[in-house]
Amino acid sequence: MAEIRKVAVLGCGLMGSGIAEVCAKAGYDTTVREVNDELAQKGRAAIEKSLGRAVEKGKLEASARDEILGRITMTTQLADLKDCDLIIEAVTENLDTKNEMFRELDTVCPEHTIFASNTSSLTIAAMAAATNRPHRFVGLHFFNPVPVMKLVEVVRSIATDADAFRVAYDFASSLGKTPIEAKDTSGFVVNRLLVPYMLDAIRCLEQGLASMEDIDTAMTLGTGYPMGPFVLCDFVGIDTLYYISEIMFEEFREPRFAPPPLLRRMVTLGYYGRKTKRGFYDYRGEKPVPMALV
Ligand code: CAA
Repeated sequence: MAEIRKVAVLGCGLMGSGIAEVCAKAGYDTTVREVNDELAQKGRAAIEKSLGRAVEKGKLEASARDEILGRITMTTQLADLKDCDLIIEAVTENLDTKNEMFRELDTVCPEHTIFASNTSSLTIAAMAAATNRPHRFVGLHFFNPVPVMKLVEVVRSIATDADAFRVAYDFASSLGKTPIEAKDTSGFVVNRLLVPYMLDAIRCLEQGLASMEDIDTAMTLGTGYPMGPFVLCDFVGIDTLYYISEIMFEEFREPRFAPPPLLRRMVTLGYYGRKTKRGFYDYRGEKPVPMALV
């Protein structure tokens, strides 16, 4: 079967724009689909900004940036993805929204096209089941910030065939990433371990074990993590963490995946982390300061 030449990315938010950037950088013709022109323009601007930073730092030639941008086509039409060999979905973590798109693409794309999802907590089977190609459906889970983080989890559902898995795995390598193989259970490998860690940090804070800053300092200086757990929660997004933990709790029914009350309160109040300027830290001033949450 044909290998990957043309790639499509669904969604051009934080993850989608990063995925589109690394695909185009690796030489793939990349079509990015957003729901409207405004979001498409915003997404393209994010990619331009990210590549522009690399040029400023002397890590990328201006001519290479222009070539990369030349490989990226924005569209609002799913029908424009009809000749893509691989479709990577990176839209909001809502199964109905994702499946609506996959159902339509299933009728538009040729049989060989591989469908992939960047989901962080839904199962691949839950999306594959909405299509007539569950054997050509995989997970390709990237990490934030996509241009920097080297890992891609390549997920094989119980329906994925060996050829589709191998093509997806080799594709992840071709992006300069390191793929690992994971089974199709909620959270795969990284979030299975990372989410309970972040939730436990919140429980430690609720229980008054130490201050937020001291817990962050403990984990950066004591274990060499690049960010402490609360800085990481704000980076990932409090709403995203809450959503992932709910899905993982639903999957495993284990208390360690259940969102602690403080996380729920923060979501209710819109303290989503860096993106809303308030989370565990307050980002509205010059320097982040801890919020008074307990
Ligand atoms: N895009 C492109 N490059 C970026 C970037 C971005 N958004 N953010 C940082 N970088 C680059 C910088 O340009 C810099 O490159 P050079 O060293 O070549 O100059 C490098 O990354 C380091 O950046 P900084 O010096 O600004 O800052 P830092 O050393 O603190 O690193 C970090 C920033 C890479 C984000 C680091 O703090 C880190 O690794 N944090 C942990 C991130 C993490 O755990 N991500 C996974 C989250 S979980 C997830 O994504 C999955 C999920 O399903 C929820």
